[in-house]
Amino acid sequence: MIKPNTHFKVDVTINQVDFFNNNGYLSIDRITTDEEIEWLKQIYNKLFQERAGEEQGQYFDLGGPRAHTGQEVLPQVLGPENQFPELRETTFFKNAHTLAAKLLKVNQDNVNGGGHMILKPAKFGAETPWHQDEAYWNPSELPHRLSIWMPLDPATTNSGCMQFIPKSHKGEIRFHRHINNDPLIHGLVTDDLDPSQAVACPIPAAGATFHHCRTLHYAGPNTTTEVRRAYILVLGSPGKRLKKPLPRPWIDEEQEALAKLKSLAKPSNI
Ligand code: NI
Repeated sequence: MIKPNTHFKVDVTINQVDFFNNNGYLSIDRITTDEEIEWLKQIYNKLFQERAGEEQGQYFDLGGPRAHTGQEVLPQVLGPENQFPELRETTFFKNAHTLAAKLLKVNQDNVNGGGHMILKPAKFGAETPWHQDEAYWNPSELPHRLSIWMPLDPATTNSGCMQFIPKSHKGEIRFHRHINNDPLIHGLVTDDLDPSQAVACPIPAAGATFHHCRTLHYAGPNTTTEVRRAYILVLGSPGKRLKKPLPRPWIDEEQEALAKLKSLAKPSNI
């Protein structure tokens, strides 16, 4: 799998930067080349076929309880760049860094972060329910980050394109709970929103959507007969340390449930 040497530079206008800062999201039709997408698909498929990093917690079903053995509905690979460092040399990676710096209005030298991949299997891919990414994160930090979401397959409303609630990044973190109210399911959901305000952003493969870490977003189920692969980079500059951590009871619940699971798995001395 030799990485194609593609060159494609993308830029955003002042209007697009303003749009992002006012609305908390932005959509563009192309961030890399078709050639690079074809190469990325091979790496992507390999990571999911091998369930890469499962033992280290780097591969799991975002929409199902930990280590379940049923049909996977939302498998995810964390940190694919650790297994394939050449992912850091891609046109996608470079353009994502340039655009993240512009949209967040920070120096590109201060922009860092990593990626994850979410797969929606054909017909079985579950919805990614409404949430704010920041709800997953360290409550002691006020982050200055965004996500760049790039599909390797056409993202339509039927295959699970991204949807956003405009301007929601300007509000607070909403109350979240775990999917199915099961703290062993990593995926979070909030009910504190009006879905009729959602804006769907269908984009072609190699396009990208950007959203601020506080923007409410959703992706529908994949009801098509084709797989919907997405590669997401979360990039930003160092966050602000908070004196008092923000309340995140859903994180505490998950940690308690995982600790309980671990203690149950310990071999008995008797
Ligand atoms: Ni998200």
